[in-house]
Amino acid sequence: MNFVGQFPAYRPRRLRQSAALRRLVSETQLNAAQLVLPLFVRSGRKVRRPIQAMPGVFQLSPDEILREATRAHHLGVPAVLLFGIPDKKDAKASGAYAAKGIVQEAVRLLKKELPQLLVITDVCLCEYMEHGHCGIVQQSRSGAKILNDPTLRLLARTAASHVEAGADMVAPSDMMDGRVRAIRGQLDADGFAETPIMSYAAKFASAFYGPFREVAESTPKFGDRRSYQMDAGNAEEALREVALDIQEGADIVMVKPALAYLDILYRVKTEFGYPTAAYAVSAEHAMVKAAAANGWIDERAVTLESLLAMRRAGADIIITYAAMDAARWLKEG
Ligand code: PBG
Repeated sequence: MNFVGQFPAYRPRRLRQSAALRRLVSETQLNAAQLVLPLFVRSGRKVRRPIQAMPGVFQLSPDEILREATRAHHLGVPAVLLFGIPDKKDAKASGAYAAKGIVQEAVRLLKKELPQLLVITDVCLCEYMEHGHCGIVQQSRSGAKILNDPTLRLLARTAASHVEAGADMVAPSDMMDGRVRAIRGQLDADGFAETPIMSYAAKFASAFYGPFREVAESTPKFGDRRSYQMDAGNAEEALREVALDIQEGADIVMVKPALAYLDILYRVKTEFGYPTAAYAVSAEHAMVKAAAANGWIDERAVTLESLLAMRRAGADIIITYAAMDAARWLKEG
């Protein structure tokens, strides 16, 4: 589009004369109803364990999760995304699909006490595996291998147990091939055909997940996640991953991380026109917090501008650790 010369009378400044006029012509809005707050649950009562690299983020016991979620709900944040930190880890991630697992317990409490809150659960095995990988590991002389297909059954079981406990939506983040189909099949078979899946569809192998692994206690004990997460340079592959998840039954697709991958977000939204989520991940949060603590940036302005940029790039939904702060700032105007 080249307006110059075509419309000689066009003067951009005319539309910037007042705040009311700027609002009338504003193309992108950010509001609390588009935000999702991630929460980390562990066993106990009155537990609020701070995380070194993520100021304001805690490992919380279920009673504290309820308090935090209630606060978010009152600020207009409609949804939370739950991650679990089990007491015990093993080689088959038993804690992930245990009926009395920590996520299942938190879901039951939240849905009982705060039924209007949308409860989304992260479906992955890494927090529950002793080795910290997202799938079943086979050790051999040539090294460790993640077994894709046997992992699918455990993921499907995990998702079904979350929904059984009352989860409104499941969000598989493992990046095994075929997991959305496996989960969809399991939920349908168990009578949960109406429960949607938000898939981490374009999830990159990213250094921006560093602080999260401290919170979730899910740092791989050996190797990395490059055999299942995507290379940072691959945009076409991201589109193929998203297409596949949609074919397999994903209702919402996610791009992760957010700020460094806005081009991916834009392409996913324009290519598929699906409800699209962006996950502003742990290091994105940590960087803002660190710079703000040093007085180098205006935390509120930088946060709101970043979230708005994600919306402009195509995000319908933004998962962010700053959800409550942003909701409060938006309310203050
Ligand atoms: C689990 C998972 C991760 C994140 C969300 N789900 C970590 C990873 O893949 O290592 C990262 C979120 C964040 O950094 O905030 N697979």
